[in-house]
Amino acid sequence: MARVGAATGKWLLGRLLRRFEAAASSPGVLPLRSVPCRHRHQQKKKWAATAPRVASTRRALQIFDLTYGVQFGSLWPSIRISLLSEQKYGALVNNFSDAEQVTQQLEDLNAMDFISESQRGQDLDSAADQDVCSPNSSPQTQTELEVESFDTFVPPISPNIQCYTFPKGDVSLFHPARPDTLGLLGYYLLDAASILPVLALNVRPGDIVLDLCAAPGGKTLALLQTGCCRQLAANDISTSRTGRLHNVLRSYLLKEHRKIVRITSWDGRIWGDIERNTYDKVLVDVPCTNDRHSLKEEDNNIFTNMRKGERQMLPKLQLELLVSGILATKPGGTVVYSTCSLSQLQNEYVVQKAAELLAVQHNINVHLEDLSYFRRLFWNTFSFYSDCSVGELILPHLTANFGPMYFCKLTRLC
Ligand SMILES: C[S@@+](CC[C@H](N)C(=O)[O-])C[C@H]1O[C@@H](n2cnc3c(N)ncnc32)[C@H](O)[C@@H]1O
Repeated sequence: MARVGAATGKWLLGRLLRRFEAAASSPGVLPLRSVPCRHRHQQKKKWAATAPRVASTRRALQIFDLTYGVQFGSLWPSIRISLLSEQKYGALVNNFSDAEQVTQQLEDLNAMDFISESQRGQDLDSAADQDVCSPNSSPQTQTELEVESFDTFVPPISPNIQCYTFPKGDVSLFHPARPDTLGLLGYYLLDAASILPVLALNVRPGDIVLDLCAAPGGKTLALLQTGCCRQLAANDISTSRTGRLHNVLRSYLLKEHRKIVRITSWDGRIWGDIERNTYDKVLVDVPCTNDRHSLKEEDNNIFTNMRKGERQMLPKLQLELLVSGILATKPGGTVVYSTCSLSQLQNEYVVQKAAELLAVQHNINVHLEDLSYFRRLFWNTFSFYSDCSVGELILPHLTANFGPMYFCKLTRLC
């Protein structure tokens, strides 16, 4: 696999930018030359009337070609075509519905729970008696799969989350879920890679959990499937989106199970001030360039010209949200940061900056956890990028067209 070194990368980026500028001043686009004063107004009008309107999806692709072409080198064409192709979904089983019947139906379709599949062949004898979480009751004791795989230790993975996918290369689609006799939907369709940040958070029995940017609620629902949350604060700044979150929870959980969830619509950046040192586990699933959506949909596309400023400020917002999430975590607690973007600037850079900023401004140290065991566990379902400096990144691939999904786990030390 060819890699692009830092110096080559800079040179390539420079070349691409020069080419981009040259293209921008080529026929069909207003030439970049000075305009005599008396014609300026007229010229401006003409520009507004004749300039071709670039679709946001097209602009996103142009920008991705420039930036990701450099970041991923020879891998980019494969990622690019996958991003432009039909995405694969996973079916997150709703343990609060008739889960046995649901899993049977999914197995009849030849789908598999990729989480339990990953545990097959591992030495389960070492599964110690631990606390058990039951999704249908309050947290109790749980036997978790804390296993030694060959000579490599694999931290516990919650056994309660079940997510069915079709095997690699199988592009079958799931039907929308139907309500059971209680009116609850049997599964939730989502990008199966979205489950990985939740698994990385590893919610334990009795944990107090914060989902800082929660709507529309796929990961909130997955957190609840663990049956481990004592309380779950699900927040999202957008009231229309928290409305969707309410609807999701109503469709999947009975009232008695929704009692542990508190839904709010605050700016997540203030959380570190208002509920400092409070949570055992915090999920910071930030707004991002949402790469797959940005290439497919004009609606709510962050690459429209009007949202250029917002787009450029994303890493700052992401950094502030992550810092706020870490401040809201108890010392010893953990935070998972995630995006559905390939951008290094929105992924590793934000995590590293947050760690620096917390040390300098708050005297708080964080430990960046090694999540490479996810690659060993889930290599058969996802395509992992092998070059992240911190965290893990799922790359879209034609045979396993999930992601992009970046996730990184941080433990707050003090
Ligand atoms: C990637 S989406 C979250 C998806 C969600 N976790 C899920 O799994 O369904 C990011 C969310 O962040 C929210 N958001 C944006 N800025 C925010 C802020 N300052 N505070 C809290 N939420 C914010 C957006 O409204 C959006 O719903």
